[in-house]
Amino acid sequence: MKLMVIGSGGREHAVIRKLKENPDVETIYALPGNGGIAVDAVCVDIGAKDVDGAVRFAKEKGVDFAIVTPDDPLVLGMVDALEAAGVPCFGPAKNAAIIEGSKVFSKDLMKKYGVPTASYEVFDDAAAALAYVQTAPLPTVVKADGLALGKGVLIAQTREEAVQAVKSIMEEKKFGASGDQIVVEEFLTGPEVSVLAFTDGKTVKPMVSSMDHKRAHDNDEGLNTGGMGTVAPNPYYTNDVADQCMETIFKPTIAAMAAEGRPFKGCLYFGLMLTPDGPKVIEYNCRFGDPETQVVLPLMESDLLTVMMACRNGTLAETEVRFSDKHACCVIMASEGYPESYEKGYEITFGEGIKAQVFVAGAKQVDGKLLTNGGRVLGVTAVAESLPKAIDAAYTDVEKIRFGNAFYRHDIGQRALKALEG
Ligand code: AMP
Ligand code: GLY
Repeated sequence: MKLMVIGSGGREHAVIRKLKENPDVETIYALPGNGGIAVDAVCVDIGAKDVDGAVRFAKEKGVDFAIVTPDDPLVLGMVDALEAAGVPCFGPAKNAAIIEGSKVFSKDLMKKYGVPTASYEVFDDAAAALAYVQTAPLPTVVKADGLALGKGVLIAQTREEAVQAVKSIMEEKKFGASGDQIVVEEFLTGPEVSVLAFTDGKTVKPMVSSMDHKRAHDNDEGLNTGGMGTVAPNPYYTNDVADQCMETIFKPTIAAMAAEGRPFKGCLYFGLMLTPDGPKVIEYNCRFGDPETQVVLPLMESDLLTVMMACRNGTLAETEVRFSDKHACCVIMASEGYPESYEKGYEITFGEGIKAQVFVAGAKQVDGKLLTNGGRVLGVTAVAESLPKAIDAAYTDVEKIRFGNAFYRHDIGQRALKALEG
């Protein structure tokens, strides 16, 4: 079979590695991929948002199945375009990807169907929003409606910050048209859990849970990033919590999307907060998380391609989705300065005896060398019988990888360890 994976991050690298385990897979094309992905797939210089380019390429090469991984092409309708051209896909159609593409849509969906989430108000007018935040309880959370590279959420501790948040999104248009509408919501507290789930629009089968580390520096200090590391499973996500999430969040969300005439097929990401009042949805993403995927897929025992095809074909109920009971830890190695400005073009070298899986996110091949080419450069994932062993193994191999201006957090998994110790 010939497969095509859209995207260029560490997440896509992890997806490609897992897909390759299926003996029927002959070729995987990555659009556009990166210098590290090039070891595992054929990289093609077509951008992840180039819908027409992807359709043309898939037809020309006779691609049998396409996996659309990033949010942008999903929200743009790449799956609809590929399916219309006769290319079967894993990923939601445009009318379902809106669950991530519009926070107003997702909040209204949760309210209508009783899925627990923070209480909220929607504004399309800056004056009304500014008046509202004068009396809203603090801290308050201000969110741009549309996609904003994961940066469209501002948590205001004071009135001044709340006013500034509204102004920057609605008046200064910090996130462009994504800020034409905003959601102002209640500030929730509790441990956060990421749950990625396979769904065919009717049945939902969650993957192993995980914990992201969003801040740039140790002890959860510094700016919010795309994610500096992950562990799986997440110790806060006990069997009782999982059962509660299934009944109050996962099944009702899938049923709600179907009832709205927007059946969601693909991977639905539930960003959850375990509040004193029970689990609540912080956000939905219409795709695999990055770097959650880099710890979740290495623990998957079932064949990924088979499960993806079942999601597309509506046969997930009859398809086994099994995970090992081991632990995984992924440490992201980034370029100093990320998530703001950073230098690129340093050679990446790999020492002897690396046992972990390395998923490359921001690198390019030049004259046979691998050079840094992004903020998040690569992720190092180790799998072991226990969380402490997985953390140790990941950091042992991180120390064998060198590049100029490398930086990484030293405490990935420490919060999870504390939770395990009770
Ligand atoms: P998001 O981009 O929706 O994932 O939000 C980024 C981060 O902001 C989340 O991971 C949470 O840590 C935080 N956050 C978002 N909404 C809330 C909320 N209502 N209460 C507290 N924290 C929130
Ligand atoms: N790691 C968070 C995300 O993928 O959105």
